[in-house]
Amino acid sequence: MSPDIVQALVKTIELKDLSTAAHTWRVVLYTRALAEEFGIDHNTIERLSLAAALHDVGKVEIPDQILQKPGKLTDDEFKIIQSHTTLGHERLVRMGEEDPILLNLVRHHHERLDGKGYPDGLSGDAIPVGARYFAVIDSFDAMTSVRPYRHEVGEDAAERALIELQAGMGNRYWPEAVEVFTKLYHSGKLNWILHYFNDQCPVPEFKSAAEIASEAQAARRAASG
Ligand SMILES: [Fe+2]
Repeated sequence: MSPDIVQALVKTIELKDLSTAAHTWRVVLYTRALAEEFGIDHNTIERLSLAAALHDVGKVEIPDQILQKPGKLTDDEFKIIQSHTTLGHERLVRMGEEDPILLNLVRHHHERLDGKGYPDGLSGDAIPVGARYFAVIDSFDAMTSVRPYRHEVGEDAAERALIELQAGMGNRYWPEAVEVFTKLYHSGKLNWILHYFNDQCPVPEFKSAAEIASEAQAARRAASG
């Protein structure tokens, strides 16, 4: 998929979901940091980055009045929101996408280890590994990003998020993924992502994984110096 198409899709998701460019950057950078920790090869890291950037692409097809509804969702509305996983998967297939890393992460990032997730109710090892890790990253980011109702931000929010992730180990999340992510956080290697790419700071446009790598390097240097 060309960087232009990725950029256009990412922009459309942001507008549609009222999410921020910073959210996309953070989940991509957490994904890269985790993959680098495992010593995964460069090509696979690029594919995982693309999958992270496009994980919610199916939301483009969810009606605004449901996606942006401020109050509680009805059961039917919740089902429609959940369909962003299959809609995203189908959209990518229609575009000719064949990479299983990308297709699996987009379809399965809301599965739960105990089989109570969606869309396919997969459990345990049946959930693709990338999706098992990404579920942890996506939840961590949701719990640590700036929200009107959240008073805790930064490290306090991160510590609380890690406790929540640990509480979900074995039912919601894959224990190994929570453990590796928690260890990585405590090593300090994720601090710069949490602090530098906060929702109030303007970030450059998403272009390509290669550009992310060089931006990430610059941000890392700025954070340490
Ligand atoms: Fe999602």
